[in-house]
Amino acid sequence: MRVLVTGGAGYIGSHTCVALIEAGYTPLVLDNLCNSSPVSLDRVAQISGTRPQFIEGDVRDAALLTGLFESHDIAAVIHFAGLKAVGESVEQPLAYYDNNVSGTVTLLQAMQNAGVNRIIFSSSATVYGDPASVPIREDFPLSATNPYGRSKLMIEEMLGDLHLAHPDWRIARLRYFNPVGAHASGLIGEDPQGIPNNLMPYITQVAIGRRDKLRVFGGDWPTPDGTGVRDYIHVMDLAEGHVAALDYLLKNEGLFTVNLGSGQGYSVLQMLHALGRASHQTLAHEIVARRAGDIAECWADPAAALALLGWQTRRSLDDICADAWRWQQANPMGYAE
Ligand code: NAD
Ligand code: WQD
Repeated sequence: MRVLVTGGAGYIGSHTCVALIEAGYTPLVLDNLCNSSPVSLDRVAQISGTRPQFIEGDVRDAALLTGLFESHDIAAVIHFAGLKAVGESVEQPLAYYDNNVSGTVTLLQAMQNAGVNRIIFSSSATVYGDPASVPIREDFPLSATNPYGRSKLMIEEMLGDLHLAHPDWRIARLRYFNPVGAHASGLIGEDPQGIPNNLMPYITQVAIGRRDKLRVFGGDWPTPDGTGVRDYIHVMDLAEGHVAALDYLLKNEGLFTVNLGSGQGYSVLQMLHALGRASHQTLAHEIVARRAGDIAECWADPAAALALLGWQTRRSLDDICADAWRWQQANPMGYAE
């Protein structure tokens, strides 16, 4: 069964291609490569024995999508394509609304025209804003503090409206917590361009010697060790969550929204020390001022995903660090080598 994977050459998309192939699905990747390398798909082939069919193109290209749905029998869409850097979204809001919101409108229109009505959408824990308490349940109030988060909220609402108007659509809104780690083979992983915004790739680049030390954003948060706490989810657990959501949508009608997280919070220093253990070194750090827009702590209540999809995370913090480090060591400059 063929599944269109937009953004399938990217970090989460490439890992999801592996999980889809392992589950017997046939991914068809559409990606404009604005934040990824096609080498990731060669590596997916190395891992799985199957190279996903790849179309280089943009989800905002309506004519391309029309042709694509006409020429392929597509059962469902997993929609990863979009921009994801919070700081950049503040500086270039229109690029984010265009790519994320307009791109999704174009995709949904093409799906509707083609009679394809099953979609899994990459939402984010960012839609909870600064939560009043943890763990976070799906019925908590939603808010956005930046254009990136607002684009995710807008798309969630758009999908809700679409389902209200057309109840035959089958829609999954998956709210990811903090995706980290890499496939256990070390062949695919996260490959940020430039200086990493996110914690884990920054730490692994310190470990490999590309950065001199981690700058810890704030040591005075109201958390056990004073540093920010997040719910880090292994990217292969996340990938398997998409397969579980797809299995569900093929059997059940309706729209559902679930958190994909582990339910466990770790602090910045816990993450630094865990990667230090995995890489057998002491990693340098310095506590600096808080980063604008950060929150103290954020972790999921993952019960709804377990109840609905029978899915929960299986991999530990040590798995995350061992796999992230294997990827970083084997690919010190990412896919560029
Ligand atoms: P990524 O940048 O590695 O992957 C996104 C992919 O989409 C890239 O390959 C990029 O080239 C492609 N793309 C972007 N705009 C496109 C367009 N207009 N047309 C076609 N392709 C396009 O990011 P990721 O971490 O794999 O994230 C995937 C999705 O998950 C994104 O929607 C992101 O917002 C969401 N998400 C990510 C995180 C995270 O921390 N990584 C957390 C929550 C949600
Ligand atoms: C984690 C912790 C930082 C870097 C972001 C987006 C969110 C989602 C996931 C897409 C925080 C600290 C980080 C560094 C540090 N993306 N940190 N030094 O901020 O939880 O979430 O990515 O949807 O929308 O906001 O993740 O990895 O940036 O930070 O101390 O160099 O690490 O302050 O406590 P965050 P992160």
